[in-house]
Amino acid sequence: MNLRVKQQIVILISLFFLGSLITVGYIESERLLPKKKAKAVVTNKNLGCVKCHSEKSPGIVVQWKESRHAALGVGCMDCHQAKEGEPDTWDHEESLVAIVPTPKDCARCHEQQAKEFTAGAHADAAKNIGRLDHFRGAAAEGSAPAAGGCQKCHGSAIKVLKGGQLDPATWPNTGSGAINPDGSKGSCSVCHSRHQFAPAQARQSDTCGKCHLGAEHPQIEAYGESKHGILFRSRAAEMNLDSAEWIAGKDYTAAPTCATCHMSQTKGQPVTHDVGQRIGRALGPITSIKREGWEKKRKNMQSVCGACHGPEFVKAAFVQYDAILDRYNEKFAAPAEKIMAALGKGGKLTKAPFDEKIEWTFFELWHGNGRRPEELARRFVSNFIPEAEALSPGIAARFLKGK
Ligand code: HEC
Ligand code: HEC
Ligand code: HEC
Ligand code: HEC
Ligand code: HEC
Ligand code: HEC
Ligand code: HEC
Ligand code: HEC
Repeated sequence: MNLRVKQQIVILISLFFLGSLITVGYIESERLLPKKKAKAVVTNKNLGCVKCHSEKSPGIVVQWKESRHAALGVGCMDCHQAKEGEPDTWDHEESLVAIVPTPKDCARCHEQQAKEFTAGAHADAAKNIGRLDHFRGAAAEGSAPAAGGCQKCHGSAIKVLKGGQLDPATWPNTGSGAINPDGSKGSCSVCHSRHQFAPAQARQSDTCGKCHLGAEHPQIEAYGESKHGILFRSRAAEMNLDSAEWIAGKDYTAAPTCATCHMSQTKGQPVTHDVGQRIGRALGPITSIKREGWEKKRKNMQSVCGACHGPEFVKAAFVQYDAILDRYNEKFAAPAEKIMAALGKGGKLTKAPFDEKIEWTFFELWHGNGRRPEELARRFVSNFIPEAEALSPGIAARFLKGK
């Protein structure tokens, strides 16, 4: 090979390496530089709102400009529009506006999400306020604090004042089952903070932890202390949270969030806005029952785990979970329910709820700190059984036999 040919080969190889370096450099800088935001499109009907609110409440307009909605020309009036004669129509700066855009407004463009959300438990959360637990809350704290406290998570019935503005006793409220002036149920801003409506924010567990916390429903605490929560915190930057598509095992593998398991896409399942679709058992009632169609729902959940765990591991994790619930049902829930029924039949309890001490003790078996195993056992043995025995001697032996 003569010198000339050698020189040409060296030049070619050098050019190839230079080219690769430039390409890699470009890709890396694209990845590391902040994403270019698409420009907000302000259509005619939104021009007035955007202009004036940029001065009066600039935060709202900046957040909107950062949203995907803005880039696509979906503006203020697409969500806030109202018609003459609707219950919450407010005549505002020469436009008819509704202050609270509801799932019905979103449904004009997001029919599927609104349908699923409305079918699920979140949209119905206000109806629970009338149940027995509420009686306890109202009895213990008076109705105002009970209502205010409960409604922050469960939702309020939003009342409209004359002229279209809202009653401050009932709004602001983004409780999960708010009853809206247009008759629709619930609030999409429970998880989608306005006005960015960014999926990256909804996918984080803190979004859910706003309500799913405390002794009654300590999901955020349980998550935070689990391997999943620990790994999420240490590897949050690798979670690809603002990816358009967010499939466990494909777009991220570091850890699951609440949304991963209960809502987000997997290889075999689309996003669901009905958070009950992957839950097999109900943990709310004293006896943990299997839900309608529980096998399918259980399979849905197991297929989420399958993105990151092997099938035998997943099966075993659920064997452990079911065993704990079955043991609890058999050792505490079933005898307690039977004892209460027998006391009722034997004339030891009136029909009115919560007028006997033991009704509170029974309720507290599986509420508040009663949800912690050692506290449940203590309350059962030291409070519930002695109180039942005092009302009807020998009753415990009838229902605890052999246990
Ligand atoms: C000329 C200024 C101006 C224009 C134009 C304007 N707004 Fe407002 N808007 C305000 C001010 C000031 C307030 C707060 C005071 C009030 O209640 O009137 C407000 C309040 C609101 C509220 C909340 C009400 C509340 O009780 O907190 C909404 C929702 C709203 N505007 C939406 C819109 C929409 C949608 C448009 C476009 C059709 C629009 N605004 C146009 C100035 C404006
Ligand atoms: C994608 C739908 C959507 C768009 C677009 C939108 N909003 Fe809203 N806006 C909402 C929702 C949802 C709420 C929360 C209502 C509630 O539940 O209280 C809200 C609340 C508000 C409020 C009252 C709450 C507060 O924080 O003061 C104002 C004011 C408001 N929007 C103004 C605007 C303006 C101005 C624009 C355009 C720049 C706009 N919105 C665009 C959905 C939207
Ligand atoms: C006029 C139509 C319209 C209305 C009304 C509307 N949206 Fe949207 N929304 C869109 C479009 C279009 C997209 C982009 C869809 C896509 O990228 O495939 C979008 C995207 C979204 C996204 C994903 C954003 C992202 O960054 O990927 C969320 C969340 C969302 N909308 C929530 C809402 C909520 C909540 C409401 C009601 C308060 C609402 N939208 C009302 C048209 C609308
Ligand atoms: C911090 C938010 C929050 C507050 C405040 C709150 N709840 Fe809840 N509540 C929840 C969540 C979250 C659930 C769902 C728990 C689950 O499924 O594990 C729930 C579930 C319930 C249930 C259903 C339990 C079942 O048997 O399925 C009732 C009834 C209830 N709450 C009543 C009330 C009442 C009454 C108050 C006020 C005294 C109240 N809640 C206050 C968040 C809250
Ligand atoms: C309990 C929390 C929660 C509520 C309530 C909620 N969303 Fe979502 N939403 C999410 C999460 C989490 C995602 C992201 C799913 C994923 O990983 O892609 C999402 C994604 C979306 C998207 C993007 C497209 C998609 O389906 O992935 C739209 C549009 C949307 N939501 C609309 C709505 C509307 C409209 C409502 C009210 C009817 C609503 N959401 C209520 C949590 C919620
Ligand atoms: C504003 C408060 C609030 C937020 C935020 C919230 N939830 Fe809930 N959630 C509730 C309440 C209240 C219930 C109980 C509804 C009932 O049983 O009436 C509930 C129930 C549930 C259930 C049980 C559903 C069923 O069918 O029994 C699941 C699962 C759930 N939420 C998951 C989530 C996830 C995941 C997120 C975040 C992406 C989230 N929630 C955000 C208030 C909230
Ligand atoms: C690794 C997956 C995973 C994560 C992460 C996760 N969950 Fe769950 N969740 C489950 C499973 C599994 C069940 C029980 C399913 C069954 O009974 O079949 C469940 C049950 C629930 C229930 C139902 C309780 C009832 O009353 O029946 C609620 C509410 C809930 N989770 C909320 C949350 C919230 C909020 C977070 C985040 C703080 C979260 N979950 C994180 C897998 C997960
Ligand atoms: C996005 C990936 C991902 C998903 C989805 C996921 N996990 Fe995990 N899980 C992990 C990782 C990573 C660990 C940590 C393993 C370790 O520390 O060695 C883990 C740990 C665990 C552990 C603790 C194991 C131990 O050795 O202590 C259990 C139990 C578990 N997962 C169960 C589940 C169940 C059940 C589901 C579905 C309901 C699920 N996981 C869904 C990623 C995931």
